[in-house]
Amino acid sequence: MRGWTKETIDRFEIGYAPDVPDAAVRLLESRSFPLVLMEKAGLLVKKEDGRYVDRFRNRIMFPIHDHRGETVGFSGRLLGDGQPKYMNSPETPIFRKGTLLYFFHEARVSIRKRQEALLVEGFADVISAVQAGVDYVVATMGTSLTEEQARILRRHAETVTICYDGDSAGTEAAWRAAEQLSAFGCRVKVALLPDGLDPDEYIRTCGADRFAEEIAAARPLMAFKMDRLRRGKNLQEEGDRLRYIEEALREISKLSSPVEKDYYMRQLADEFSLSLSALYEQLSRSKPEQP
Ligand code: GTP
Ligand code: MN
Ligand code: MN
Ligand code: MN
Ligand code: MN
Repeated sequence: MRGWTKETIDRFEIGYAPDVPDAAVRLLESRSFPLVLMEKAGLLVKKEDGRYVDRFRNRIMFPIHDHRGETVGFSGRLLGDGQPKYMNSPETPIFRKGTLLYFFHEARVSIRKRQEALLVEGFADVISAVQAGVDYVVATMGTSLTEEQARILRRHAETVTICYDGDSAGTEAAWRAAEQLSAFGCRVKVALLPDGLDPDEYIRTCGADRFAEEIAAARPLMAFKMDRLRRGKNLQEEGDRLRYIEEALREISKLSSPVEKDYYMRQLADEFSLSLSALYEQLSRSKPEQP
């Protein structure tokens, strides 16, 4: 499947739920697991007649670990087409999607060492990235990034590089996640993959090396914001130029890191041949009013 090696499949403990109603029921029974508990854990569903059946059928199974490495839930990817494409274990006391990051229990050491995390959208993206040698990678559980997840990332890394799907939905979601992570004090970089590809597809089409290049070429969120502020302005013209500087200062004033702030202030000063002190003077005025 997807060019994943045996080693990768073992590492991620990827399995398969057969297309029969009771494969898990029979397996769990034969190993003396109480079915009532297995229903609570989300593996089985109790029917009206009181019998148990499997929740996951004909799906490639991805176990999901909590941050200590315990398996707390599953996501099943339908083999072939159909809806829903992915099905997750229901929320249980131990499986709370908004508090988990897929692969975090393994990626944590690298993330801390590099002070950087790579955030992707899907399970498959994590797995292909790891096989391609990028091991500081995590994904959300198919929902948008929660505050809890942003806090976890900030606690372990200075920088978060977002590499979501290169389609419009992915790009939108990337901006939202970027804003949220910035608000939590992360330095955010964004890598935009071409042709609507997601990391998994990109790695399979273009290879591990080119993926590494795309990640290395990720640009700071601020650079994108500056680009957006420039759009539709003619910086040769005084009015537009002043408006751009004013807007850029407003963005810079939101940065929490003084070093980053200084970096963009200097950039702005250089570009428009302004004195840094004048810009700082202006910055102190363009700060949002204190309530
Ligand atoms: P693949 O075809 O397996 O590569 O999936 P994809 O790349 O099309 O996944 P997509 O980019 O649509 O979604 C990224 C992540 O969102 C997945 O890893 C899931 O966690 C989640 N997701 C996608 N589809 C569904 C769905 O139908 N239901 C749920 N609950 N989650 C989904
Ligand atoms: Mn495990
Ligand atoms: Mn997508
Ligand atoms: Mn995909
Ligand atoms: Mn995708």
